[in-house]
Amino acid sequence: MLEAPPLLLAAFSLGLVLLVLLLCHSYSGFLLICWNELVLQPLYNLFMGDTKEQRILRHVLQHAVAGDPQSVLEAIDTYCLQKEWAMNVGDKKGQILDAVVREQRPSVLLELGAYCGYSAVRMARLLEPGARLLTIELNPDYAAITQQMLDFAGLQDRVTVVAGPSQDIIPQLKKKYDVDMLDMVFLDHWKDRYLPDTLLLEPLTLLLGQPQSGD
Ligand SMILES: C[S@@+](CC[C@H](N)C(=O)[O-])C[C@H]1O[C@@H](n2cnc3c(N)ncnc32)[C@H](O)[C@@H]1O
Repeated sequence: MLEAPPLLLAAFSLGLVLLVLLLCHSYSGFLLICWNELVLQPLYNLFMGDTKEQRILRHVLQHAVAGDPQSVLEAIDTYCLQKEWAMNVGDKKGQILDAVVREQRPSVLLELGAYCGYSAVRMARLLEPGARLLTIELNPDYAAITQQMLDFAGLQDRVTVVAGPSQDIIPQLKKKYDVDMLDMVFLDHWKDRYLPDTLLLEPLTLLLGQPQSGD
């Protein structure tokens, strides 16, 4: 077998170390999230015998008031600020979302990406009587948590939680979910689906303001 000259080996190792350091420096935030989500989180879940999403729901059930959506939001925010970070829209961006819902006053609102139901609770609590929210969540475990979150907040009558990939559900909106027109869409799922799903919604002429054929 050929042996690499020691100097070449040392230079290669040094280059590798420098590359790793550079990557760590450039992508420190991303790497930290990966480390947390792919290593620490699964270990913690294994140790606790549950998932982060179940822990968030449990915290809500123990600390919020049933039928009071504001207390549900506060309990989620507190838990995720003090205990475990989670991908909810959060209070800061949530206030922007509140302002849009208040301004648009949608009758039929669609959310793509429910996760634990934080934004669903946030938006549904502001809906006018008779208005409804449909929220689509890819992960059935997250969809189940969302449903329980909405039940606890007392918002279950205004919201339909649908488990499945947006790209499969959107084409069924008209026939299966009785949606003729959407007044507002909140895209909060994986970013690579934003454009294809917006295009999927277009031919269905569901988005308000879009010219109907013949207009
Ligand atoms: C950022 S989280 C949503 C947070 C949530 N809107 C909130 O603020 O509480 C993104 C969610 O989108 C879901 N998701 C990703 N791709 C999806 C798809 N194609 N269809 C439906 N849900 C999807 C993920 O499972 C994840 O729960």
